[in-house]
Amino acid sequence: MSKGPKHFLDINELPLSELKSMLAASSAMKAKQKAHQPVRPLEGKTLAMIFERPSTRTRVSFDVAMRQLGGEPIMLTGAEMQLGRGETIADTARVLSRYVDAIMIRILNHEALLELAAYATVPVINGLTRRSHPCQVMADLMTYEEHRGPIEGRTVAWTGDDNNVLASWAHAAERFKFKLNVATPPELAPKKVMRDWIKATNAPIVLGTDPEAAVKGADCVVTDTWVSMGDKEGEHRHNVLKPYQVNAKLMSLAKPDALFMHCLPAHRGEEVTDEVIDGPQSVVFDEAENRLHAQKGILAWCFDAVK
Ligand code: CP
Ligand code: NVA
Repeated sequence: MSKGPKHFLDINELPLSELKSMLAASSAMKAKQKAHQPVRPLEGKTLAMIFERPSTRTRVSFDVAMRQLGGEPIMLTGAEMQLGRGETIADTARVLSRYVDAIMIRILNHEALLELAAYATVPVINGLTRRSHPCQVMADLMTYEEHRGPIEGRTVAWTGDDNNVLASWAHAAERFKFKLNVATPPELAPKKVMRDWIKATNAPIVLGTDPEAAVKGADCVVTDTWVSMGDKEGEHRHNVLKPYQVNAKLMSLAKPDALFMHCLPAHRGEEVTDEVIDGPQSVVFDEAENRLHAQKGILAWCFDAVK
């Protein structure tokens, strides 16, 4: 039996060695690009990009990554496709697999991503679902290690609500063996399925509700918007999340050289103050840049082109 396509769906589904080889390939390709010696392992390959929801970074970085690697991106939005008129995910997967060499999709329904992957005969990449955002956290790991060296054994603090970016940080903590301190309001805490997974895998993740306790002594402080795509009750969420804002006072409890990370887009004055996001500890635009480089590593891995 031939082996199936190499999907990139979630960080915790892949062995650490493969994740590390993707990051190493990303760094190598970044260095080559900066030295004006681009590598083009994806000549003749086509990536379909399906966006059911808005995107700036994911859309542009995947598009540019494909072009720089010698391939071609095709941009599709769910609403413009027959998918928007009721064609099934399974049939869409079977049809696209006859045309393109890989599919990247942003879709809120995680089960739909899994269905696409089950029926596609080409690699499928998770470009964000309600459940997880693994491409983002690969870029974040790359960024952390560029600034501070190996993340293994370090402490990352998350303050905010339970969301897709937190889930991918949790998956990364389990694989890369760093401690993740999580502070969320009780009503916006990680759900049972995540809590059960933490127990089952013995992942080094501490769930709590106190942002100061989570951030104390951390090497990296991470937050995200209080209202993710698909969230309702924005006003209520703002009220309960106010104490979780990353401001200079909270940041001062982390290690003096701690990094501040945010996947962007940021809501300045809400989850983070200008002082922190524009301050010397912030690496948010390095993270954004590294979406381009990290995704090259992911694409090359999917295409079996990691050297
Ligand atoms: N961080 C991130 O995924 O940004 P976009 O929504 O702009 O793609
Ligand atoms: N948690 C955010 C991330 C956006 C990149 C959202 O899902 O909207």
